[in-house]
Amino acid sequence: MSWAVNPNRSTLAIFVVGLPMVLMSWAGYAAEPVKLGLVLPYSAVYASLGNDITNGLELALSEVNYQVAGRPIVVLKQDSQVSPKVGLQITKKFIQQDKVDFLVGPVASHVANAMRKAAHDSKTFMIIANAGSVVLTRELCSPYIFRTSFSNWQPNYPMGIWMAREEGIKRVAILAPNYAAGRQMMEAFKEGFLANGGEILSEQYPALGESDFQPYLTNIAQGNPEAVFVFFSGADAVKFVRQYAQAGLKDQIPLYGSGFLVEGKVLSAQGQAAVGIKTALHWADTMDNPVSKKFVRDYKAKFGEIPSLFSLQGYDTGHMIIQALEATGGDTSDKMRLRRALEDVRFESPRGPFKLSRSHNPIQNIYIREVVNAGYGVIENQIIAVAAEALEDPGTGCDL
Ligand code: BEZ
Repeated sequence: MSWAVNPNRSTLAIFVVGLPMVLMSWAGYAAEPVKLGLVLPYSAVYASLGNDITNGLELALSEVNYQVAGRPIVVLKQDSQVSPKVGLQITKKFIQQDKVDFLVGPVASHVANAMRKAAHDSKTFMIIANAGSVVLTRELCSPYIFRTSFSNWQPNYPMGIWMAREEGIKRVAILAPNYAAGRQMMEAFKEGFLANGGEILSEQYPALGESDFQPYLTNIAQGNPEAVFVFFSGADAVKFVRQYAQAGLKDQIPLYGSGFLVEGKVLSAQGQAAVGIKTALHWADTMDNPVSKKFVRDYKAKFGEIPSLFSLQGYDTGHMIIQALEATGGDTSDKMRLRRALEDVRFESPRGPFKLSRSHNPIQNIYIREVVNAGYGVIENQIIAVAAEALEDPGTGCDL
């Protein structure tokens, strides 16, 4: 048997010659940064949400010094405004030019819907840190799309049940901005409310970014409902709650909503006009558990303000990416391995134990919160009930 064909020796020869090359390429690969491309609004109606998500994400990354499994983490940011067209342009640039490993965002459901095909077709992981569009974790679910926030169904469906059963309210007027999230949230609310004996007296859908709610408030008052249920967020939420109080409706018709209505900086800007509003959501900054308290403390120390739900979602997005990368040893090239690592992520979030459903959407409790005057000039959301425990959006999985 000649040396050349001896299988043991040739294996050894390849190993000895190949080792430095393998080590060199591993060293090069290991030092290569993991790139996150943030597609978030830094202007227009949802600007404060985009900033809060970014801060929460940066807090989580700073906990590991922007380094996972020997690879530095680099954050690229672009302003998606609230435009599906701009969101898609940025997404394509991040995928094709910057070759990001993860897209993070967006905030608005219609922007998320517009980004979906580009992320899915290019097999780029997209971690949705807010947008609740139900189709993305149902019929348009993708192996590459994950959510750390909520589906638009999750807070609103149990709120419909809770208002009818626990508050005894049967006749309501509903109102939301006229785009995917507004429509989906109202559908979810109706599903729970109508099945429990409720009646919808009026449905109104002003434009996203509306500045004058007076005509809508006049319509509401004329219908004489027992309560009003709304979804608004960001600058829209500030304007709506203030105008509701200015129109004299605050003390006449109780106002309810999904929790985005009175969250973070929005609540500070609304002030007394928000007191008494009851909303449903998966967290409140007053939540009494050690992980939440630590998060609020660390965020305040770094940014000088109390975090919002959006900050929390950015924070959990950071933890999800870090844990998945730790599980793959920093390898982002094997998409199936990274997908499974993302699906298997588990950690203690400030909202409670974090775990995804088969449709890549968090399974979580939904709380009823009430805005109260807590004394010393502090206005805050206090949790007054649990509307649903470990609620899972009814998606059936992401294997297309
Ligand atoms: C959305 O468009 O999905 C959305 C925007 C703001 C708050 C909550 C949801």
